[in-house]
Amino acid sequence: MKIAVAGTGYVGLVAGVCFAEVGHNVTCIDIDEEKVKLMKSGVSPIYEEDLEELMVKNYKAGRIDYSTDYKTAYKNADAIFIGVGTPELPDGSANMEYVATVARQIAENVEKDCLVVVKSTVPVGTNDKVEQFIKDSLVRDVKVEVASNPEFLAQGTAVRDTLHAARIIIGTESKEAEELLRKIYEPFHLPIVSVNRRSAEMIKYACNDFLALKISYMNDIANLCELVGADIQAVAEAMSYDDRIGNRFLNAGVGFGGSCFPKDTKALSYLAEQHGYELKTIKAAIEVNKKQKTALYRKACKRLITFKDLKVAVLGLAFKAGTDDLREAPSLENIPLLLENGADIYAYDPVAADNFKKRYPDQITYVDKPEEALKDAQVCFVFTEWNEIKNIAPGTFKELMRTPLVFDGRNLYDVKEMKSTGIEYYAIGRGG
Ligand code: UGA
Repeated sequence: MKIAVAGTGYVGLVAGVCFAEVGHNVTCIDIDEEKVKLMKSGVSPIYEEDLEELMVKNYKAGRIDYSTDYKTAYKNADAIFIGVGTPELPDGSANMEYVATVARQIAENVEKDCLVVVKSTVPVGTNDKVEQFIKDSLVRDVKVEVASNPEFLAQGTAVRDTLHAARIIIGTESKEAEELLRKIYEPFHLPIVSVNRRSAEMIKYACNDFLALKISYMNDIANLCELVGADIQAVAEAMSYDDRIGNRFLNAGVGFGGSCFPKDTKALSYLAEQHGYELKTIKAAIEVNKKQKTALYRKACKRLITFKDLKVAVLGLAFKAGTDDLREAPSLENIPLLLENGADIYAYDPVAADNFKKRYPDQITYVDKPEEALKDAQVCFVFTEWNEIKNIAPGTFKELMRTPLVFDGRNLYDVKEMKSTGIEYYAIGRGG
């Protein structure tokens, strides 16, 4: 099967590489020449476990190529996957500019019947418009159909999530489109759920927003736990035994970040408003999350009269472990507040420090080891759950810090152990 993939971000590149891995012939298209060169040399533009290895393997085997030449790639493809970004606009709606550009390029270049498959997260009803747009702009007498095939991979585990997905959702309006997609996914040996196009688009938002809601709910309960003297970790564990609730995404913390949940909650809320409906649950999830992002900072402000000239250790900058991505990261909400208040910040992140440096080149000292940040620090903030941070022994905080005062936004350490080691320890929803 000849597949073209438009866009080499998380969604496009990972999909392309995994299609090649199961034996399809793939061309990944990007407008950035430098990026294409890099990918051809086996370097991934994103930090993602196992990705480079599969890129090199499949490139050598001739199953995948990278190119800026969309004309050739689209001309001959059996299926063209669109995996470009749909970033958030100021009003919360999704920006469809990149999807539209690709749709136009497809319409102007396809020379045989083909299936266009939208992987990008797009508001319900968009694929109907994309299909119409392509049909209106076609320059040859060919049949082009659009299908929806939302992506459920998470950053940091993208390759695993794709090759071992819980399910593949295909949203089509014809038997031919459904059959072609089933054929493409057959070698993955995964459950396939076939629905209509609008349902597929909705499934993506419904899943992401449900998970976001789950996190905001746990953060809400965590805040209440603090007020009534309960422990959110114990509460979450007990909840997880109920398989109607499930045992994942129950971790309270500094709020959800990343490129998906913040954007997709706003986009669904916006979509509802456009239809004259108020999505109250999702609005609440957004509101709780906004406040949660700075909960740790507010807690620290209650304890300290000033940050001026204090050495502050910041452990973790990425929005979650396993990625160098900073989009909507809690660190980006808290660090400016600390800087404004005169803190002398020493930051550690095993992967995302270079990206943070681009935004804050001089105001922060970046260190290569958590211990360097902790040495002589008067306060420590934990924003990301990297193993390198999780594995710090309580004794290390005690020995290295001038005053062992720790604000942990990820509930990484045992409260009793921290306290018995002589650390003043504040976490989320744990009576601190
Ligand atoms: C999320 C979804 O998990 C994917 O299924 C989806 O495909 C993806 O969005 C997308 O739409 O592209 P991702 O944003 O990469 O994936 O990361 P998650 O692991 O879901 O984490 C999102 C945020 O929630 C992070 O800030 C994380 O720290 C936070 N989180 C997660 C919690 O605060 N508590 C938890 O228990 C779990």
